[in-house]
Amino acid sequence: MSLNEDFLLELRERADIVSVVSPYVNLKRSSKTYVGLCPFHSEKTPSFNVYPENNSFYCFGCGAGGSVITFVCRIENLDYIDAVKSLARKFGLNMPEDGYDDTLSRRRGRILSANREAARFYHSELLGERGRAALDYLLNRGLTMQTIRRFGLGYAPNGWTPLLDHLSQSGYTEAELIEANLVRKSEKNGKTSYFDNFRHRVMVPIIDIRGGVIAFGGRVLDDSKPKYINTSDTLVYKKSRELFALNYAKNSLEDGRLILAEGYMDVIALHQAGFTNSVAGLGTALTSEQAQLLARYAKEIILSYDSDEAGQKAVRRAIPILSGAGLKVKVLKLSGGKDPDEIIKNHGRERFKSLIDGAANDIEYKMLAEREKFDVGTDDGKLSFLKAAVNVLASADGAIEREIYASRLADEFSVNKSSILLQVDEARKRLDRQKKRDRLNSLNKTARSMGIPPDIPSAVSVNAAKSEMTLLSILLNNPDFFIKISGSVSAEDFSDELHGRLFKVLMERAASNKSIELDLLNAYFTPNEMSRIVRLNNDGARQAASLGICFDCIKIIKEEKMGVEKVNPAELSDEDFNNLFKSFNK
Ligand code: CTP
Ligand code: MN
Repeated sequence: MSLNEDFLLELRERADIVSVVSPYVNLKRSSKTYVGLCPFHSEKTPSFNVYPENNSFYCFGCGAGGSVITFVCRIENLDYIDAVKSLARKFGLNMPEDGYDDTLSRRRGRILSANREAARFYHSELLGERGRAALDYLLNRGLTMQTIRRFGLGYAPNGWTPLLDHLSQSGYTEAELIEANLVRKSEKNGKTSYFDNFRHRVMVPIIDIRGGVIAFGGRVLDDSKPKYINTSDTLVYKKSRELFALNYAKNSLEDGRLILAEGYMDVIALHQAGFTNSVAGLGTALTSEQAQLLARYAKEIILSYDSDEAGQKAVRRAIPILSGAGLKVKVLKLSGGKDPDEIIKNHGRERFKSLIDGAANDIEYKMLAEREKFDVGTDDGKLSFLKAAVNVLASADGAIEREIYASRLADEFSVNKSSILLQVDEARKRLDRQKKRDRLNSLNKTARSMGIPPDIPSAVSVNAAKSEMTLLSILLNNPDFFIKISGSVSAEDFSDELHGRLFKVLMERAASNKSIELDLLNAYFTPNEMSRIVRLNNDGARQAASLGICFDCIKIIKEEKMGVEKVNPAELSDEDFNNLFKSFNK
């Protein structure tokens, strides 16, 4: 896919990376670069760097990096062309009409507009003759017309093709509607037919933070199964990364808090009752991507899952995922109904408000959960509970918090507070060691993802990989060297696949006098690959560069290719691995 390069260079001139990143990351200046907390992984000390001099970024914590375009791709979940479009719009440039392949982007646009048209259709059906039963159903559940309008609720009529007929008239093809998951295809006895995915269901449109209708949830009007049919993943929808109603909730955060419920209907009821800072997942267990998304808006999450066993299991699973994204967590103990919707319906909004005010923080919640497992009336049960409680306390970060709960335990069970705290300390040390091990593992994983040899399926030389990195990082910063080394090494000599491919692209561009600016390389490489390339580029900018070094590197690359020394990366010890990582990191 190729975009007009003059246009890209102009875009780069205008799209200053600091102003693009700033809305997402609180950047602090430090001499020539800016640093902040990485938006792509959770961290407490900043390792996310922005380099205005070449409009790039790099995170030393997770290895994410790239140009201003890569940044937009990642943070907004856009593909390359859509990221360029969004930057162009923001900085007042017109996209050139010719010279780019926007098939994917166009298909995405078609899905979004088909969804929007479908949402309109469903909504007007709900208010029309055929929608009587569905409207009654919603009103009977206590929803007001205002809420129904606000959420754009609708009704998918009871027939095989009402939506298909409607959207066909508006010019959508069957293939497009299948791609949007609005229509399905069946082959029977050699005959192909098409039919609506949602039939005789109440429809809940799912709207993303940019206001696009990306999917639907459709609920039956009675107790039949399945209760919900949901849009499966499409080009515009990945359910593991979206949250229902975040488009509304993000504008009405209360003290940085969001309420996370399980169901569409809970969220709708919560909003109607004035808790407009509520969101829900979309029929899957909470993912870390969703937690990151929440963390972009909120500081604290109030978990408000159903009170049944499944809901409580989901709470236990969600707590570490949310904490892992740097969020504070509180857990509601629902009483008077199985879910927020029921509680509000049965007891009113005040009751729910008081539950929020009395919500247990994650430590209290975990303590309560442990307590329920044991019979603390017996000595055995008491001991087992105290052991479990010590482990819970060990997971609390604040010393004061640990003190307070240790005191409570000491009082209640007539044990010595200092001996509880002693055991908590022991447990914390164990946890620390575990954390270090985890960190090491994730460091290794990062190193791998950066293309340090284990990335490469076949046996490969560590020395070659190092030399390739040095060579490429010098070349990226000294385009005039290409002509001088031309002919002395070729892409096939490189042991790392990406290195070879990068060399080839650079060489070809240099040979035809084209610029090798990072922003122009985006078109050839994926965001992950761009991370590694930016890193090479930025390392090179800081290191001594001479033609001599280039030829030394080439010599090693060729020797290694001849098989002087082969190392199987799979056999590198963790320690070797980390040394390797360090040497690239210095
Ligand atoms: N869900 C689903 N498919 C199902 C059941 C549930 O996708 N067959 C998802 C939906 O996103 C639903 C959420 O899980 O909103 C929670 O399920 P549940 O509590 O059963 O649904 P509610 O939205 O609360 O609906 P209702 O109050 O009508 O039972
Ligand atoms: Mn419910």
